[in-house]
Amino acid sequence: MEQDAFIHHRPHWKTHIGFLLAAIGSAIGLGNIWRFPYLCYKNGGGAFLIPYFIALFVVGMPLMILEIGLGHKMRGSAPASFASISKRWEWLGWWQVIFVMFGIVLYYSVVISWCVNFFFLSFNSGWGQDPNSFFFQEFLMLSESPFAIGDLRTPIICSLLLVWFLNWLIVFSGVQKGLERANKIFMPLLLVLTAIIVFWSMGLSGAKQGLHIYLKPDFSRLKEIGVWMDAFGQIFFTLSLGFGIMIAYASYLPKKSQIVKDSFKISIANCLFSLFAGLGVFSILGYMAHTTSQDVREIVSQSIGLAFVAYPKAISMLPYFSHLFGLMFFGILVIAGLSSAISILEAFTAAIIDKFHYPRKIVISVLSLLGFLGGIVFATQAGLYWLDIVDHFLTQYGLVLGAIFECIVLGWFYKTKILRQHINHYSVWRLRRWWWDISIRIITPLVLVVLFISSLVKELSQPYGGYSWVAIILIGRDWLIYTLFFAVIVAVHPWKVEPRERILLS
Ligand code: TRP
Repeated sequence: MEQDAFIHHRPHWKTHIGFLLAAIGSAIGLGNIWRFPYLCYKNGGGAFLIPYFIALFVVGMPLMILEIGLGHKMRGSAPASFASISKRWEWLGWWQVIFVMFGIVLYYSVVISWCVNFFFLSFNSGWGQDPNSFFFQEFLMLSESPFAIGDLRTPIICSLLLVWFLNWLIVFSGVQKGLERANKIFMPLLLVLTAIIVFWSMGLSGAKQGLHIYLKPDFSRLKEIGVWMDAFGQIFFTLSLGFGIMIAYASYLPKKSQIVKDSFKISIANCLFSLFAGLGVFSILGYMAHTTSQDVREIVSQSIGLAFVAYPKAISMLPYFSHLFGLMFFGILVIAGLSSAISILEAFTAAIIDKFHYPRKIVISVLSLLGFLGGIVFATQAGLYWLDIVDHFLTQYGLVLGAIFECIVLGWFYKTKILRQHINHYSVWRLRRWWWDISIRIITPLVLVVLFISSLVKELSQPYGGYSWVAIILIGRDWLIYTLFFAVIVAVHPWKVEPRERILLS
């Protein structure tokens, strides 16, 4: 009886739009703003949209439907869902949530805290005349190698504390009062602020040249395999697939759900946002090039270089309201980042609650504390190196391997047919065998294997990023191995209520 009560208390979304916004919030993250526009520019401008949207329809959406369908059918987090298929596969669910929770989100939160710092610096353009040396030398105080840890950077630790406090506060308040409410504020705010930044930037002189560089199609580039790999690689990360997040979010949906339609909406909203944000990014780069009489190609950059060097430089050059522009830009990054970070926290919390039945508030409090402590290494003087190496290994190998297994388990052991029929049961848009089954069973795993092998070949030919092999092995590879090790340990631990019974009870 007690078990019964527990299962019946599974949280659920208050509104359908609440679920959509939370899923979109998870998908839209820093990657949409600082990576997509650059990839587009680098890989043939507008022509890149062809492989990108092909990747979306051929692997992104099918996998999104799979994750949402799986969580919906099994009514559980990733480990509970995989364990319901077979106990043999439970480790896979744990591995996904563990390496995102104790890997990706640790450094992701540190990056959000840099954004918080830069948000405050925007009040008086605190990065000064030379943002490049400000960022690396004054702000990060970057040491010379990954093992020269140096000191903790106090400003970063302080804002990291704030970020984890916010993560904690939102997830602590529960699915409806926390995640749903936060995303209902975050997402519209994100859209409005982004729209202001985009239109503001597009009105600046030189913006046209920037946009030209961003979107002018060069179809000849489509012959290159690297362009296609970038498109497929970006799709997984940007849609938060292989993280176990969508599985957990879908487990809070009501029985009558439009899984195909929702997956479509989430994926399209995410990708259109990327495209839109890129307009702002390249307009401002165009403005900067125009003002300094340089070529846009000389100043273009991505990720950290874009957000913490190029943007601050451009902001300082703005004739009017530059402080406001900075506040809005870093505000956007903080919001986009937080709504992604809380999604994995929820996915992990759900996994622990499903298996061990610990009270939610305790789980999330312990988790947030661990998350903060685990992030400390990335807030040292060698933090950026660690971040770079761990990110490389987790996203190039961990995510890809996890998603390969996901397709194999669902496509070959469980049979896509069962899940397809479940999804179609309430769906107005019907899932077709020729598209979905083939994608999950053959195309998606094949694409992922190609991505995996090509990363591995590159890896073995020269150590990533010019780091020493020792650093690569001890920090990158071992991070993956430890997370796998913990996943197996948690997976063999007995259940309070057997996973299959959980579904029957709910
Ligand atoms: N999709 C996000 C992006 O493009 C990444 C992301 C989603 C993420 N969920 C996450 C990162 C959880 C860390 C933790 O940036």
